[in-house]
Amino acid sequence: MISRSTIDTVFETARVEEVIGDFVQLKKSGSNFKGLSPFTDERSPSFMVSPVKQIWKDFSSGKGGNAVTFLMEHEHFTYPEAIKYLAKKYGIEIEEIAQTDEQKQLADARESLYLINEYATGYFHNNLLKTEPGKAIGLSYFKERGFTQQTIEKFKLGYSLEGWSAFTDQAIKKGYKLEFLEQTGLSIVKQEKQFDRFKGRVMFPILSMSGRTLGFGGRILTNDKKAAKYLNSPESDVYHKSKVLYGIYNAKQRIAKEDNCYLVEGYTDVIQFAQRGISNVVSSSGTALTPEQIRLVNRLTQNITVLFDGDAAGLRASIRGVDLILEQGMNVKICTFPEGEDPDSFAKNNTLDVLQSYLSENAKDFISFKASLLAKEAVNDPVKKADTIRDMVVSISKIPDHIKREVYIKECARIMDISEQVLFNTLAQLLQKEAKAVSKKAAPTQQAFNVITPKSQPTKKIDELFELERKIIEILLLYGALKEDFEDLILEANDNGEISFKPEISSSTVFEKIYLDLQDDEIEFTNETFKSLYTEIITQFNQGKDFQVDTFINELETEKASLVSDILMDDERHALHDWERMEIYVKAKDSGVSQIVSETILNLRRFLITLKIKDLVSSETENGSYKDRSVLETVKDYNTLHSILSEKLRRVV
Ligand code: CTP
Ligand code: MN
Repeated sequence: MISRSTIDTVFETARVEEVIGDFVQLKKSGSNFKGLSPFTDERSPSFMVSPVKQIWKDFSSGKGGNAVTFLMEHEHFTYPEAIKYLAKKYGIEIEEIAQTDEQKQLADARESLYLINEYATGYFHNNLLKTEPGKAIGLSYFKERGFTQQTIEKFKLGYSLEGWSAFTDQAIKKGYKLEFLEQTGLSIVKQEKQFDRFKGRVMFPILSMSGRTLGFGGRILTNDKKAAKYLNSPESDVYHKSKVLYGIYNAKQRIAKEDNCYLVEGYTDVIQFAQRGISNVVSSSGTALTPEQIRLVNRLTQNITVLFDGDAAGLRASIRGVDLILEQGMNVKICTFPEGEDPDSFAKNNTLDVLQSYLSENAKDFISFKASLLAKEAVNDPVKKADTIRDMVVSISKIPDHIKREVYIKECARIMDISEQVLFNTLAQLLQKEAKAVSKKAAPTQQAFNVITPKSQPTKKIDELFELERKIIEILLLYGALKEDFEDLILEANDNGEISFKPEISSSTVFEKIYLDLQDDEIEFTNETFKSLYTEIITQFNQGKDFQVDTFINELETEKASLVSDILMDDERHALHDWERMEIYVKAKDSGVSQIVSETILNLRRFLITLKIKDLVSSETENGSYKDRSVLETVKDYNTLHSILSEKLRRVV
């Protein structure tokens, strides 16, 4: 277990904008940072980071919290994983408190897989550099390919020894469990026997965005026609091949800086480019590009340049990836290499200057690229030409931005020498077809979504009680410790039974006022999260602690932390969606704190009484008349109270 003091140091040191900046491209926006949500497919930024409050809020997914919760959401780290990651990032030494055997056994299985992958990365790397067969076979192979020592270290390349179970045996000796070794795919268990999956191969560790090893690619060194040239880790709890991009860890900073990402096909293309001096490059590792992979890039830049090998064979298939990129609103360029060359060989055989000018001269937008493909095949074949034009319009139809679509239609018309009108008509047809397909598909899913998660989007629903309870939490968080003068309206009845209010000023802290008022009325929160937040906040105040929102939020569980940051980021929400609840907010801001407090408590009380009356009436009346006279009296009392509260509200507001 990590010690309390380590956790505290981590929280004191970590800056939320720096932590998130490693994953999301953030731009300064007033006193905050803004970026594209890493959790959804959005095109206009609604992800906010507040350096002052040390929190983040994603308005498109509703998630939010602090640096740690971000890592838990984004990297799917557990709490200790997130703390360890931050400690590493900021060079904080981790102080461990001894674990019991039981705790050790309970240690997360996922963590075990990560640990094994990390161990294996080091083990294979060490084989390559330090063992005789590693140096003779693996290292000389990499040297032959032109990889420098520095490159080998940067990509943590390795070598898996020839023995049937060299790695597995060593890992077991080190205390790693066979069960987990098998789950990572590094070991294969067959009838009581264990084998190394990657025996005799050079190893390419596949790292996550945050630099943890998720899986491996292993290249064979012999010319065995029967064995696959590359073997990859199987899917596991930590490795999902559709969600990773080889090289992303080493490339992410450059991608954001250059505002462009080169996408290549293979491991060695990535490495050779990086070694030549172009580091903003990733690979989908031989599989068809997936939307999740594109989203990884989308967090860093809006621009992708796809680099294709010289052999046109794979072109047709991989070109579908281009439409996927367009669909996500990104800009895509395509560049091919001369016959027989791939990015790896081209980068190896040319200087950085030549490589750079080749890329800038040959990268074409997808329209020109498709046109150039046709030119190569048969310009004078009308059928082929028609096919190509249709293909272009299909791609254009994937672009979400209307203006861009129009620009491309015009470009297409010009290049292919065809009337714009025909193209616009084709586009309209395609879009219509698409819209129909989408609406057919979307309706049931939308419904299912609503049914399953009504709570996750609570603010969307206009729920007065929810809003009022939320408002009380907000007041406590922002103004809990303030000392204010509160005007209480004391009800007075004169001899004639006429009612009047006598104002009485009393001074107290905001939290006391709320606490005592709610207690007086025996008001309990209905929303469980608010209820427990309320208790926690009040407890802290009651203990006389110096209440600080940022330390408070650090102690909270994910869901509560998200709610709190949601509340605290309200300013930003209004900056983003200024149509939403604007009036209420403006008013609240301009009026004094004591007034907001009184108003909210009164509103809450009145609302609860309305509920109570409804409840009584609906359960107690039969055929419109009361079963029990005393209930009628109670309802009357409540009605009186309701009008009194309404009257008070009128005076307060
Ligand atoms: N690949 C794979 N399995 C194979 C062949 C290829 O997973 N049997 C993946 C690898 O990620 C490889 C990429 O597809 O890097 C591209 O394949 P290819 O062009 O055949 O390999 P190169 O990267 O050119 O490999 P090398 O230069 O080492 O021959
Ligand atoms: Mn190659």
